[in-house]
Amino acid sequence: MRHLLSLGDLSAAELQGLIQATVQRKKRPRPTTPLRGSVFALIFEKPSLRTRVSFEAGMARLGGTSIFLTGQEVGLGVRESLADCARTLSQYVQAIVLRVYRHEVVEELARHAHVPVINGLSDREHPCQALGDFVTMTELLGELSGKTLAFIGDSNNIARSLAIGCAMLGMRWRHACPEAFRFEPGFFAALQARFPEAQLQYVDEPAEAVRQADIIYTDVWTSMGQENEQAQRRQAFARYRVDSDLLRLAPPSARVMHCLPAHRGEEITDEVLDGPQSVVFAQAANRMYAQETLLLWLLGKLPLPVPKRRPVRRPARR
Ligand code: CP
Ligand code: NVA
Repeated sequence: MRHLLSLGDLSAAELQGLIQATVQRKKRPRPTTPLRGSVFALIFEKPSLRTRVSFEAGMARLGGTSIFLTGQEVGLGVRESLADCARTLSQYVQAIVLRVYRHEVVEELARHAHVPVINGLSDREHPCQALGDFVTMTELLGELSGKTLAFIGDSNNIARSLAIGCAMLGMRWRHACPEAFRFEPGFFAALQARFPEAQLQYVDEPAEAVRQADIIYTDVWTSMGQENEQAQRRQAFARYRVDSDLLRLAPPSARVMHCLPAHRGEEITDEVLDGPQSVVFAQAANRMYAQETLLLWLLGKLPLPVPKRRPVRRPARR
């Protein structure tokens, strides 16, 4: 039995397999309901539009049923221990999707669950978002190895899952971020040790990050749970806005991604978000397809395609 708490829980081959299987499933939609009779629990401590609806819609499309509960009504770790919640839930459902403030909660639940646990966003990671995003990038760019993802903004849950994915897939990660908001020391080094071909780099200026970007990605400066830091973050990230001036410095073929919800006018302007280079709604759509593939795989209903054995192409240093 497998869980998905971090994108790094997958091997590079499994990640590639999930991406390819999603691209293939989208092209040949089959009206089958392989998850008929399956029941899923979604327990969310934070608000959600995309994650909740894309999971529930996908589960219904595959023939399953979902039960949504807020963290508060369950009293996760308060009314009873996380271990007891996990063991009890495992009697009723075939998988659990959790959205939590503290990543340790999803880890503790997974330790005691007898069914797959999926991280639907924690303070550390958002692996389902990254999985869907790499599907979108594959549809746009084909082979991802050697391509460049410029991330403009905070080293948050989205950035962490994307950086891990880039290391796994041989994409170059160029991250424009104020020094005080970088990942914890050792994060890049650990990824580099596991994926020696990884190219992970901070740059000081957003302009420097986007110059040779295939994808420009941004996310909110203040994530859920950090609301009391909003004023400080607005100040620190003021130079890290994705606007049309920045976009003009990137190749015209570059595409703009954002996990949404966006704080329009903060990290991204309306002009860019609604502009011709933005792919944000296609990106949102892929959440559902990618998560359907993930559920099918975790429940043993879908073997993953074996990725073609090709050496990771190391882009020339620029
Ligand atoms: N991108 C994303 O996870 O959106 P929600 O917070 O609305 O689920
Ligand atoms: N970084 C954001 C992502 C929301 C999908 C947050 O955690 O609020």
